[in-house]
Amino acid sequence: MKIPEPYFSRLFKPFVFALALMPLVSLGLAAWQDKLGANPIEVITHSTGDWTLRFLLITLSISTLRRLINWGQLIRLRRMLGLYAFFYATLHLFTYLWLDQFFWWEDILADIIKRPFITVGMLAFVLLIPLAATSTNAMIRRLGKNWLKLHKLIYPITILGVLHFWWLVKADVREPFIYMAILALLLAERVWNAWRFKKQFLK
Ligand code: HEM
Repeated sequence: MKIPEPYFSRLFKPFVFALALMPLVSLGLAAWQDKLGANPIEVITHSTGDWTLRFLLITLSISTLRRLINWGQLIRLRRMLGLYAFFYATLHLFTYLWLDQFFWWEDILADIIKRPFITVGMLAFVLLIPLAATSTNAMIRRLGKNWLKLHKLIYPITILGVLHFWWLVKADVREPFIYMAILALLLAERVWNAWRFKKQFLK
């Protein structure tokens, strides 16, 4: 599968960029129309958290999808989608720091230590920072092979993201279970692909 070059970079990529912005646009619209319900902070926290995890999984699914449907161009969307994960994670974190905790650092620190799901979420966010910081072409060139190694952090980050969600829901784990199942499938496909490649190579 292949979209002709000018259409891919001038139409398809900007379309995906705009689409990825929609969760924020719809949140902004709902806030503007006063439709966020009785607990707007909770709605914003949940929506930005959900989209962080979704974009992490979407980013991970690019390589799998590229192999499954043989669409090499998809890889050119991966960096943008990964940066969207970081963007929504930053909004999620700032909703917590600002709207939820009013930048009361003592309380925030106590919360990070006391509540395991916050500890895990914070760890996932901290690990995302070097990935976002090294996403430029210059950094990719400068880090060479180490860039690939560093960006493997996406795996523990996504696992921590799922764990964070799993830990915070009190009873109904259906939603985090779905995310975990998707992650497990994506990881299994990678293991299978590596095994297939090795077998072919050793033949
Ligand atoms: C990569 C990092 C992160 C991911 C993927 C993530 C994902 C999520 C998800 C999926 C939810 C649940 C949304 C729902 O119920 O629909 C959530 C909720 C939440 N997250 Fe995160 N999160 C991350 C980082 C953080 C950080 C750094 C903090 C704060 C330090 C944080 C604080 C919270 C809070 C307070 C909630 C709501 C808990 C509740 O409803 O009781 N998250 N997050």
